[in-house]
Amino acid sequence: MSKIISGFSKFTKEEKIKWLAENYFNNNLNAVAIIKQYWNIDDNLQQLHDDFIENTISNFYMPFGVAPNFVINDREYVIPMVVEESSVVAAASLVGKFWSTRGGFKTTVIGTTKIGQVHFMFRGDKVDLEKYFNQNKTQLFSATASITKNMEKRGGGILEIKLVDKTDKLPNYYQLHITFETKDSMGANFINSCLEAIANQFRSDKIEIVMSILSNYVPECLVRAEVSCKIEELGGENPQKFAEKFHQAVRIAEIEPYRAVTHNKGIMNGIDAVVLATGNDFRAVEAGAHAYASRSGEYSSLSHCDISNGVFKFWIEIPLALGTVGGLTALHPMAKLSLEMLQKPSARTLMQIMAAAGLAQNFAALRALTTKGIQHGHMKMHLQNILNQFDANDEEKKIVTAYFDKRTVTHSAVVEKIKSLRKPKINWVNFLDEQRVRIQLSKLNKNSKPIFGAMNAQQMIEHLSAITQIANGNWDVDVFVSDEKMERRKPFLKTDNELQRGFKASFLANEPIKVKFNSIEEATDNLIDEIAFFVKVFKEDENRRVIHPFFGELNYDYWMKFQVKHFTHHFKQFGLV
Ligand code: MEV
Repeated sequence: MSKIISGFSKFTKEEKIKWLAENYFNNNLNAVAIIKQYWNIDDNLQQLHDDFIENTISNFYMPFGVAPNFVINDREYVIPMVVEESSVVAAASLVGKFWSTRGGFKTTVIGTTKIGQVHFMFRGDKVDLEKYFNQNKTQLFSATASITKNMEKRGGGILEIKLVDKTDKLPNYYQLHITFETKDSMGANFINSCLEAIANQFRSDKIEIVMSILSNYVPECLVRAEVSCKIEELGGENPQKFAEKFHQAVRIAEIEPYRAVTHNKGIMNGIDAVVLATGNDFRAVEAGAHAYASRSGEYSSLSHCDISNGVFKFWIEIPLALGTVGGLTALHPMAKLSLEMLQKPSARTLMQIMAAAGLAQNFAALRALTTKGIQHGHMKMHLQNILNQFDANDEEKKIVTAYFDKRTVTHSAVVEKIKSLRKPKINWVNFLDEQRVRIQLSKLNKNSKPIFGAMNAQQMIEHLSAITQIANGNWDVDVFVSDEKMERRKPFLKTDNELQRGFKASFLANEPIKVKFNSIEEATDNLIDEIAFFVKVFKEDENRRVIHPFFGELNYDYWMKFQVKHFTHHFKQFGLV
């Protein structure tokens, strides 16, 4: 049955979810529960969010963090950041603090103008078009009077309207290229409304309007942020070497597009997080930033570095079209809160804060990359995510975090550690403790039943003796273990995993062998003798290696590990541990 639906937008929220569940979740109640779990309990607040877009069925959480200790133009800030990637906020916080004791960030706004264009086709004589444009220019401004009135009161409006000939690139194609100042609003609606009014005024029999839209390329809406200090003030073991490597890393991003993209992505980690927290348009900011990074014709770094005259200087220039009034900044309670946290900045100030956040993020990434590598700190943060994924409790978190303090964090290593913590504690049998072994085995008698397997108690004890005899060189089992198998199997012995129940090595007979001794006591005495011999032969020759029929060639260390596992396995078989 087709899942194409008409009138979906007219459904209520409940109806939309029901339709989704039926058509895309096999009526799975869990899917519905998840969707509803993210609804806000405050109906009005939920309604507010529902109304931001269309067909809203739920909310999608992102973490809202803060990076304190930023000093920007001698003013202190705590920067709100919305981002899902671990390490970003931690890195920003660390770098904010680092530079707060070295003069902080110095920022300047280079320009704030934005561009909108009316794209049109004109098939006549260019001179006629220019004449028509010049004659109508004043009317083009006045056509927007009702829209620009308020903006002009705030010092903004249309700054310039230019006629641009693009016919060398596309036949008959011209533009009205219009420069705007939108003050504290991002201005997308304002610009687009002005453009449409201008286009209406401008159209004629010979002018075919194709479209009117703002440009997200805003190279004149530009901000610069910089940090600098004497190289020796950078700290660390060798600040000169650090500065040189850092400088090289930036130079690489300046000339190598593959690296530049990742380098700039790191910058955008910081910028996007603040863009989101303040309810700004991250797609617009992203598009504008990357276009600016390609302005020379080749994609390049947005940040730059200089280390001449003993001074480390690191700066960024980035176009940022932002708003601190209107749009989501006014509607979203968290965006409002972020702006309040930033001490109600103007759009100009917000540009500077974001540029500082981007530069800080870039500094953190390059510092990590050129010193201990990015995975070190990143995986430490990732560790907390894995712990949360596994619902680790506080105690588990403490143990695992301490364990990985000086170890490399990998997903599998963390998972293994968590699992090992949760595994029931194994009472490993110390088979070298004669007294203990005797006490344990004395609990067995003819009627003792195994919990698993087919051996009786005496057969089990004699089996332990027999395997110990292999190590002692008194039972030569004719089994070949290839190097490949040995490499694969041996590492198991170093783990704290137990031998699996039901495992049977191929060299053993299918049925338990007949007993050799008259009683459990005699079999136990023999086992104790074999253990003593085991210790003796390996003591006499520390380099001794004996082939184990399953694990291959083992030295004393590996035999010990095997014996502990093997004894524990069989003691458990009879409920002795
Ligand atoms: C990861 O999100 C960002 C980095 O790759 C940036 C960089 O390489 O500069 C670490």
